[in-house]
Amino acid sequence: MNAIVAEIVSAEHDALVPPHGGVLRDLYLPPADAEALKRASASLPQWTLNQRQLCDLELLLNGGFSPLQGFLGRADYDRVLADMRLADGTLWPIPITLDVSEAFAANLPANAQISLNDTQGTPLAVLTVADIYFPDHVAEARTVFGTTDRTHPGVAELLDRTGPVYLGGTLQGIQQPSHYDFASLRHSPRHLREWFGQHGWHRIVAFQTRNPMHRAHRELTLRAAEQVGAKLLIQPSVGRTKPGDVDHYTRVRCYRALLDHYPRDHATLSLLPLAMRMGGPREALWHAIIRKNYGASHFIVGRDHAGPGKDADGKPFYDPYAAQHLLAAHQKELGIEIVPFPAMVYAANRDTYLPQNEVDAEDEVRDISGTELRRRLHSGETIPEWFTFPEVVNILRERHPANAREGFALFFTGLSGSGKSTLAQAVLARLLETGSRPVTVLDGDEVRKHLSKGLGFSREDRDANITRIGYVASEVVRHGGIAICAPIAPYAGARDEARQLVQAHGRFVEIHVSTPLEVCEARDRKGLYAAARAGKIKGFTGIDDPYETPVSPELRVDTSQRSVTEAADVVVAWLKNQGLA
Ligand code: PPS
Repeated sequence: MNAIVAEIVSAEHDALVPPHGGVLRDLYLPPADAEALKRASASLPQWTLNQRQLCDLELLLNGGFSPLQGFLGRADYDRVLADMRLADGTLWPIPITLDVSEAFAANLPANAQISLNDTQGTPLAVLTVADIYFPDHVAEARTVFGTTDRTHPGVAELLDRTGPVYLGGTLQGIQQPSHYDFASLRHSPRHLREWFGQHGWHRIVAFQTRNPMHRAHRELTLRAAEQVGAKLLIQPSVGRTKPGDVDHYTRVRCYRALLDHYPRDHATLSLLPLAMRMGGPREALWHAIIRKNYGASHFIVGRDHAGPGKDADGKPFYDPYAAQHLLAAHQKELGIEIVPFPAMVYAANRDTYLPQNEVDAEDEVRDISGTELRRRLHSGETIPEWFTFPEVVNILRERHPANAREGFALFFTGLSGSGKSTLAQAVLARLLETGSRPVTVLDGDEVRKHLSKGLGFSREDRDANITRIGYVASEVVRHGGIAICAPIAPYAGARDEARQLVQAHGRFVEIHVSTPLEVCEARDRKGLYAAARAGKIKGFTGIDDPYETPVSPELRVDTSQRSVTEAADVVVAWLKNQGLA
């Protein structure tokens, strides 16, 4: 680049909106210092980041969360909750915190430094801890999300899967989290700002999404860009979105296909490694701040922006326009212009898309909801061209072939000799007789020969055994298969953990084989009860070790009351009724 061009580029670069708080952070150390810190980090306490923490770290380090320089300490946290501001008054609506276990926090020395690692153990940054504090998760849920209803995914995560201690402090970045997917579509704020400068883009309207984009989105974004005379930045969140969303690999293929339907040089695509909280209005404000850091001058806020849908009583968590109102109220100090947009709908009589508020009484409005789209994909029914582009439909159909069925796990639990394995075999045979779905059996004894070889019968080992079974079952279910598990699984906590693992991908059907102890003992197929009574086996379930009876399993069957065939009939009938078999 010659000097004149460099100057022009720099001038245009300067013309972009300033970052939030005035300084674009870049918390990565220079290479030599990073290398030295990497070596030193090996002797520090090690913390493995979960997916949300990893996403947050990436945006802290690259300046996407400017002006933050680390995870929030108590003073910032309290003020963010109370006023949506940092302690110094800067607008900041979502707490960015590093949650850890009590055991980890208890071992930290004064002025601790800790190494923050990815799941492969690669050190990405060092946190110098300034603050260790116990948050009130319920109060946080109430202020940030406006609810403590666990139907809200942000609330469920906070109340059920967030550590009790927060560590606040500043970060020194060692290396970027690695992404091997769509590397050319991932940019830091600095990188994107440079790109805008090089391409002479000054007015840029950013669009956030967590869904595949269809014609309505294209119309909306084109209109928004035209309305404010800006170029378009499609910046989907690909870090973590709402459970059940279309995976980001598929979505990115859709976005790429859609990009060809925009006027040349008017739209660009960049992926944002954001862990969404589905926090509605507060989250919308946060999204706008992040886009401003990436150099966008405008931000589209649609209907029900970052809303998680309906609560346990079927009421929407947020008013659909609450996000637009909140952002409008902060427009002046926000420093990025909000482009509020109503939903776009298709008017069949005019063969065109319109903002909902421009529809006339005589218009024949059509729409296809996300649920309806999933239904059509599932049934193989046509998806009309007015709704989406054929390339997008093809990509979605490849990922969601018609008539593909959701995977599920049958988890039989009960005492030794209760008939779990026999019943599992009978159900397996019935499923194979009538269907061609892949089935994997994880029987108690079999699992202990391979997957759990070496584990004993202490509580700890039994729990580890069930977690392993749950993990393998979840993988089977993730790929649309059926997993049949038949361990004793005497502890409710471990059963619940297996349930959580599986439910991330499909149904978990807990079947309590409730055959009474006397019957199991009388059967004593393996002679183990006699050995346990004689004291030759210690800690035998039902004799001198507990079995926590399932409180609300999906099914309960007692093989002392029915034959194995009849019990299998009960299970198969239930599965048919649920549409699973
Ligand atoms: S657990 O508790 O879920 O991890 O147990 P599981 O993997 O299903 O293994 C149970 C089988 O191991 C044999 N066995 C014992 N069971 C219970 N308690 C003790 N102490 C014990 N020692 C050995 C027993 O044969 C169980 O098989 P099933 O098929 O249930 O009779």
